[in-house]
Amino acid sequence: MAKIRILGFGASLRKGGFSTAILESAKELVPEGATLETFSLEGIPAFNQDIENSAMPKRVKAFKKAIRGADALLIVTPEYNYSVPGYLKNAIDWASRPDADNSFIGKPASVMSSSDGQFGGIRASLHMRQIMLGSGMHAISGIEVKVTNADEKIKNGKVTDKKIIGQMKKQLKNLTDWAILMKKK
Ligand SMILES: Cc1cc2nc3c(=O)[nH]c(=O)nc-3n(C[C@H](O)[C@H](O)[C@H](O)COP(=O)(O)O)c2cc1C
Repeated sequence: MAKIRILGFGASLRKGGFSTAILESAKELVPEGATLETFSLEGIPAFNQDIENSAMPKRVKAFKKAIRGADALLIVTPEYNYSVPGYLKNAIDWASRPDADNSFIGKPASVMSSSDGQFGGIRASLHMRQIMLGSGMHAISGIEVKVTNADEKIKNGKVTDKKIIGQMKKQLKNLTDWAILMKKK
């Protein structure tokens, strides 16, 4: 069977970000039969509807192409002010446009969140579900990893906490299983 291609995005733009470490670690935790590639949201300008048809920025075009080529999406988000970071919402707004060319339609998607605090980005994760509904992604049910106190569970750019690693594997398997089912549809 053809491989399931997962596209991961959403990690913060700073160097050494915990969300980036989670995305990087996820590459090694996908089940057999799946691959995970990541897309950095750096360089995506603020959304402007005036140019969505006439002059869509190059980086946005690349993002839309990457989404289109994927069978499933893994969004890894930090929590900024009790929600998803603005750069992530902005990138999703772009890729959902123009309306007739919404790149997210029919894509199964799953969220992981993290924070250096004790709630693991749960508020961002819940907001992300609402955005998934609005943007036409299929938010799948099941396990959603929330990395609390990320500074204790991530070292040298990799997730080191065994419990989190186990949960990530389960979530990636669940996402892959749904992608296989939806591909057959
Ligand atoms: C603008 C901003 C707002 C933040 N707001 C929250 C918040 O609401 N809740 C929370 O748990 N952490 C919050 N944090 C802390 C981040 O979760 C923490 O810095 C995290 O490590 C950022 O993700 P990264 O390591 O992937 O860059 C905030 C950080 C920033 C920069």
